[in-house]
Amino acid sequence: MSVRVDLNISLDGFMTTTDQTPESPFGEDWPRLVGAYVATRTFRRRVLHDESGEGTTGVDDAYAQAYFAEVGAEIMGAGMFGLHDHPDDPDWRGWWGDEPPFRVPVFVLTHTPRPALEMAGGTTFHFLSAGPTEVLERALEAAGGKDVRIGGGAAVVHDFLRAGLVDHLHVAIAPILLGRGARLWDGLRGLESGYAVTAETAPSGTIHLTFQR
Ligand SMILES: NC(=O)c1ccc[n+]([C@@H]2O[C@H](COP(=O)([O-])OP(=O)(O)OC[C@H]3O[C@@H](n4cnc5c(N)ncnc54)[C@H](OP(=O)(O)O)[C@@H]3O)[C@@H](O)[C@H]2O)c1
Repeated sequence: MSVRVDLNISLDGFMTTTDQTPESPFGEDWPRLVGAYVATRTFRRRVLHDESGEGTTGVDDAYAQAYFAEVGAEIMGAGMFGLHDHPDDPDWRGWWGDEPPFRVPVFVLTHTPRPALEMAGGTTFHFLSAGPTEVLERALEAAGGKDVRIGGGAAVVHDFLRAGLVDHLHVAIAPILLGRGARLWDGLRGLESGYAVTAETAPSGTIHLTFQR
């Protein structure tokens, strides 16, 4: 049972994009940041419900498969779930449609909790206000012996990394320069100590960096 983080970051270390507009809620930088992951066969099947078998295979797809394997519960922040973009919508159900790809209990950290949302396919979103240790206890219990993933976003991942609660950190570094946004590595000087660090490069130009406790 381990606590995992999987992230896409830019070459200059940014994990958020900043060019969203009301007309383009994800902006143009987001597809550039996550392009190699979104192109994989696994992402297409699991997230886009595309059963055609299309999509890339190989290194990027192997990491996409690992992203979903053996995860028994997920923790994310209000920002990642979309509560900050839809503050006045009590019926907001997340970005992922009626059948989200998680298929496990998802604990959404928020200071304005709301009733749990049971979605198709096994995902239930639970909304709670709790510190990292407390929410992790609940998620580990719900995970039934499998891993817990800290899905994002920037603030929540930082909180867990700073608290030393992450056993496995995988960052897919896209070969793009964003120049602005929330930086993954800030405030984490010396993070590498205590981890075995490995790297693998995919033909897409993505560098997969893994920190394993
Ligand atoms: N690069 C990647 O792979 C990746 C992956 C996921 C997300 N992201 C990006 O991350 C960004 C979102 O990150 P973010 O930093 O804005 O938000 P976030 O980390 O998703 O959520 C932070 C918010 O969660 C709530 N929260 C956090 N800790 C809490 C606690 N202990 N108790 C109660 N509530 C708590 C607070 O919201 P309230 O006070 O409003 O309740 C806080 O403002 C997006 O831009 C997204 O695209 C990137």
